Amino acid sequence: MKQRNIILCGFMGCGKSTVGALFAKKNGMAFVDLDSYIEKQQNKTISDIFAESGEAYFRELEKQAAKELSEKNGLVVAAGGGTLTFPENVETFRKNGKIVLLDIPIETVAKRLENDTTRPLLNRPDKDKAMKELYDKRLPLYRAAADIIVNGDDSPMQVCKNITAAL
Ligand code: S3P
Repeated sequence: MKQRNIILCGFMGCGKSTVGALFAKKNGMAFVDLDSYIEKQQNKTISDIFAESGEAYFRELEKQAAKELSEKNGLVVAAGGGTLTFPENVETFRKNGKIVLLDIPIETVAKRLENDTTRPLLNRPDKDKAMKELYDKRLPLYRAAADIIVNGDDSPMQVCKNITAAL
């Protein structure tokens, strides 16, 4: 029987990649990080794609990558922080998967991303303000996209257990 995909969604720094890799390992599934998938395809970092071609171009690549991955089965996909804020991507992933929101408070995000320079959307002098605005804008979109919402403000192992219990 074909196994449906599990798509992890949530704000930057919520643990999608760390939890996704662990969850896949524990459940004998294959793990794909959407950003890494795009980076490999383009042979460029996400930061370079944003810098050279802009966010709109990145969103097109992201949309295409989502379509490609949704054609497969039995994957755990760590989406990017913006992926599931676009209804088209929600529809794409829903066809063949369950969308799981890793819910974490902004305070945890701020702590985890304090010294991070790899997120172009937050690489700016007013980082804290930009983060808060984006977080507030996106939370309702994540909630609407998700089939399941779990507490992501826990150890990766515990978050995996939270997902298993909720599925
Ligand atoms: C983005 C989040 C990033 C990456 C890109 C845009 C966003 O992924 O896709 O920088 O719009 O929130 P992570 O959530 O894995 O950091």
